[in-house]
Parts: sequence; C-alpha cells; structure tokens
Amino acid sequence: MTYLANNYNRRKISFKRGKGSYLYSTNGKKYLDFVQGIAVNSLGHSNLYLIKELNKQSKKLWHISNAFTIPEGEKLAKRLVKKTFAESVIFQNSGAEATEAAIKVARKYFHSIGKPKKNRILCIKNSFHGRTLATIFASGSKKMTKGFGPKVSGFDHFEFGDHKSLEKKITKNTAAILVEPILGEGGIKVIPKWCLKGLRKICDKKKILLILDEVQCGIGRSGKFFAFEYAKVRPDIVPIAKGIGGGFPIGAVLMSKKVSKCMVPGSHGSTFGGNPLAMSIGNAVLDQIFKKGFLNNVRKNSLLLIDGLKKIQKDYPSVIKEVRGLGFLLGLQLFKDQSKFIDKLLENKMLTIRASENVVRILPPLNVSKKEIYIALKIIRKVCEYIK
Ligand SMILES: Cc1ncc(COP(=O)(O)O)c(C=O)c1O
Repeated sequence: MTYLANNYNRRKISFKRGKGSYLYSTNGKKYLDFVQGIAVNSLGHSNLYLIKELNKQSKKLWHISNAFTIPEGEKLAKRLVKKTFAESVIFQNSGAEATEAAIKVARKYFHSIGKPKKNRILCIKNSFHGRTLATIFASGSKKMTKGFGPKVSGFDHFEFGDHKSLEKKITKNTAAILVEPILGEGGIKVIPKWCLKGLRKICDKKKILLILDEVQCGIGRSGKFFAFEYAKVRPDIVPIAKGIGGGFPIGAVLMSKKVSKCMVPGSHGSTFGGNPLAMSIGNAVLDQIFKKGFLNNVRKNSLLLIDGLKKIQKDYPSVIKEVRGLGFLLGLQLFKDQSKFIDKLLENKMLTIRASENVVRILPPLNVSKKEIYIALKIIRKVCEYIK
C-alpha cells in the first residue's frame, strides 16, 4: 500500500545507504550504482568531504531569505563566474526551474531593449528541459505534454541534425535557440562541435541568444566543466542543476552581463534558491571538481570505460548498436530490448537507467575508480552474452 501518487514507474527495490559508487538495499544486497540519481551525485554517495561541509553549515545557518546578502551564495557565484563564460548568476532549486529561468531571461532581455515581440524560443524536438508547464512545451515531446493543455505558446522546434529546418524556423520573433549540448533523456546524443559552433554563428548572424542547457551534461559530467567547452563556443545563458549539488537540490542560471542586466530587482526570485545550506554544498562540490587534475581524471577514466564498451560492442554486434556520449554521460544504443537489458544488469547487481531511442544510460560518479569501471564492464559483457 502506498499513499504516493502513481506518477513514477518505481522498481520494488529500496536502499538504506550508499557509499561512493555503491548502494546497499534494504534486503542486504550491494549494487554498483551507475545511475547516481540520474547524473546528480557527481561525487558518489556519502562523500566524506560533502558530509563534513554539510555538517559544518547545518550548525550555523540553513535558510534565510534572498532579501538579505548571502555570503555563501556570493562565493559560489564568484567561483562559477571566474571559471566559466558567465558574468552573473541566479540560484534556483532544480533543473526545470533553471531552464525556465533561462527562458525568462531571454525574453526579458529583448523586452528590455524594446523588442518585446522577440520572444519565441527555438528548441530541438523531443529534447528534455524539465517538467514545468513551459519546459514540457519547450521539450517538444507529445508524450510529456499530453493532457496538460492549453499549450504554452512561444516555442518552435526543429529536428535534431536538420540544419535546413533550423534556419527556416528562425523568424523575426525568435529570441533564442535552446539546446542541450548532449541530449540526455533524448538518448545521449552529442551535438557535434561544428554544429555548436554553427549555432553560435547563426545566433550572432540573426542577433539572437544561445541558451545551452547543461543541467545533465554540465559540472564535469562530460569530462569538461561544461560540455560546450569542447566546441569552444560562448553561450549567452546556461541553466545548470544536478551535479552542482552532488545530491542536494541546487539549480542556477548563468548569464553574460549583456543579458543579465535586464534582471532588475523584482524580475525573478525563489524562496529557497541560493540558501546558505545549499550554497555551502555547492561550494564543497566545486572544491572537489576544481581540484587540479580532477577533470583530467574524469576524461582519462571515461576513456577506459568507453574503450571497454566499444570492445564489448565489437564482440556483441547483435546486441549493441552504438556506444554514445562523452565523459561519464554515456549510453548504449541497443538492437535488443532496453528494458530486458537493464533488468539483467540489475539481476547482476548493476544499476543503469533508460533514455530514448532504446538507449541504456551509464552514469557513474565522476570519481568512480578504475576497479569499479572494470567490474561494470564485466557485468555488461556477461549480460550481452546472456541476451545475444
Ligand atoms: C537537460 C535537462 N534539463 C532540465 C532537466 C530538469 O531538471 P529537474 O528534473 O531537476 O527539474 C533535466 C532533468 O533530467 C535535464 O536532463
């Protein structure tokens, strides 16, 4: 009997604790967790440094209103600005909120320069930007919007990779292009470097804004702090969440100065966004991710995993169609049934999660060990042998 609504397809498995890359179930079993709360626990479960910093802050101050200056938030914003394209930050609590704030900023920017009709956002069809009313309509997925009408207007869509349709869809009312540099829920589809560069060029040519949703692929998950860094492009607005909190709900929208100027007092806000407890944890996550060599290690270790997966693909060409992704945002596109594959991995004590296009998502913590990578590869190989 549950009193929770039925909006999730939950597995009948519960966990009582986690440590690093492992979860321990209530019935005494140990699982290799390559979901990590869907790319959230960037430093794994129960990270000792995060626990220490959380404990420290929890004894000082949890929450105060944004009506006051919050030094922990000032510090986190400064660090994000110093290390990235951003010149200004607004803190939120989740990815959807951050993405919705990004949309608001784009519209407000054009409004502030006397072009209020420039308010449409151009997005990739069947992408994922969250579950608020605006973000489900931004995502352009029939499944997500069904039953939630009336339609939130102001969003146009083009197909992934269809450059001609993209150019055609830009009108005089387009304010911004919004894309994920790596489509996460959409099937771990990496937008090629030259395409991201092309998007920047189109945005410059048409004098519109480029919003890159790094909620899933950001904060080191791709092997760079931001996935768009591989393409060396400079976005105007970037929503982040997931990994920045390491398991604590934090979201943020990062902006260039040009656009952030329009966010005057009263234009946007959040009760919880940016509170001292959240901000201390965000700072603790960055202490680790900004450590010398951390991201280098992510890239190096992820190559081990990717190479291993490609070898398995070669040995089981009837099972795995494609190895997708960058860093530790990886996916196996299968010929065989995705659910059966995920269930078999689970039977073998490894947790993964689905994505669109029959993809099995593989999301270890960023500090996963080589040994754990080899264990994962062994389990995946075993499942391929069983399922072939
Ligand atoms: C790219 C992207 N944007 C936005 C979101 C929404 O984030 P949240 O679930 O924290 O609202 C997600 C969540 O998976 C995501 O992957």
